[in-house]
Amino acid sequence: MDWKIRLGIIGGGQLGKMMIAEAKKLGVYVVVLDPSSECPCHSICDYHIIKPFDDSKAIMELAEKVDTITYELEHIGVDALIQLESQNKQVFPTATSLKIIQDKYSQKMRLMELGIPTPAFKLIDSVSSLQSVLDEYKAIVLKTCFGGYDGKGNYLIKNPADIECALEALGQGSLMAEQFINFKKEISVLACRGQKGEVVVYPVAENIHEDNILTETFVPADISIETSKKASGLAYKVMEAFDGVGMFCVEMFVTEDGDVYVNEVAPRPHNSGHYTIEACITSQFENHIRAVVGLPLGYPNLIRPAVMLNILGKEGYIGEPVYDGVEDMLTFGSVKAHIYGKSVSTPKRKLGHVTICGSSLEECKKISNLCKNYLGINKRC
Ligand SMILES: Nc1ncnc2c1ncn2[C@@H]1O[C@H](COP(=O)(O)OP(=O)(O)OP(=O)(O)O)[C@@H](O)[C@H]1O
Ligand SMILES: [Mg+2]
Repeated sequence: MDWKIRLGIIGGGQLGKMMIAEAKKLGVYVVVLDPSSECPCHSICDYHIIKPFDDSKAIMELAEKVDTITYELEHIGVDALIQLESQNKQVFPTATSLKIIQDKYSQKMRLMELGIPTPAFKLIDSVSSLQSVLDEYKAIVLKTCFGGYDGKGNYLIKNPADIECALEALGQGSLMAEQFINFKKEISVLACRGQKGEVVVYPVAENIHEDNILTETFVPADISIETSKKASGLAYKVMEAFDGVGMFCVEMFVTEDGDVYVNEVAPRPHNSGHYTIEACITSQFENHIRAVVGLPLGYPNLIRPAVMLNILGKEGYIGEPVYDGVEDMLTFGSVKAHIYGKSVSTPKRKLGHVTICGSSLEECKKISNLCKNYLGINKRC
């Protein structure tokens, strides 16, 4: 095989950086499109186009320099990517699937069409429709259809008095209301499909969120075998729903009764899959690269239990990132640190993560709790 593989990545953040680390192992030439010359990918990509993500000329420039385009964030101008696809340029995951996923409403419609269980949902076009959906669902999560991340773009409404504040907070764009699910656990399943149609599904991960931001991931998830099978089966179905090529992450809720609902789908490697770097035979980043450039996929199997702990920007501080406690955490030999190299720290911004692998999940959790003391994060069991 002629090994001149040229890959373009839209977005130069930490996901792009971890993709590049794997791409370079495979001898792939990588061009990044990101507006910041200080983004995490800048120092390790082969070429950096310093222009906005939604600049269609910049996307065309990227397309000229590479054979395949992928992306590390979903909030990008999709029309230019659709145009590239129509000119037979490879874009993975496909621009068509990205367009459906970018709009939370069309994403949920697609899932529903395929019989994938999701929280009940409705598009909201007036205050009165919101009122009647609240009567029907009792409690709702109002969501902006476009652009939400880390819970920004969501508002929990439990009584009619919250409606005004919710609408004010979420602004003018299109909105959807989802039934509030009183879940017992949040889990996620990563799945990757190669260009020949083969699919690999990773073990179920259990996720802890605080203020809507992922703080910690435990693998394997503490759920029954039946729930685990249900979740993996849903991940396969999601890959069909979006005709996915590349890595997808399926976020799900598990209820007390063992019901599993799909919350949302990300068409890219995901924060809850960072543990795969140290804990799986093939990391989510390696399989993503393999899939999008057309190589066979590697096994997703878990080698050993793992905990991933995010390092978030300190409250009340904006400025150069400080990594207090990381050196102390590294005194535990099983702790692996990933520092993203962002230029600015803002409250709760994802600045890095650590992964702890061990012979049991209990052992990993113990060390993670000790690490939290160094990070000043509240201890959880
Ligand atoms: N229908 C729901 N019922 C209960 N909780 C929900 C519901 N929808 C969302 N949430 C909570 O809000 C969090 C963020 O929601 P969602 O995943 O839709 O938003 P996001 O901002 O796109 O997420 P991300 O953090 O993945 O970028 C979820 O992880 C979950 O804790
Ligand atoms: Mg989410």
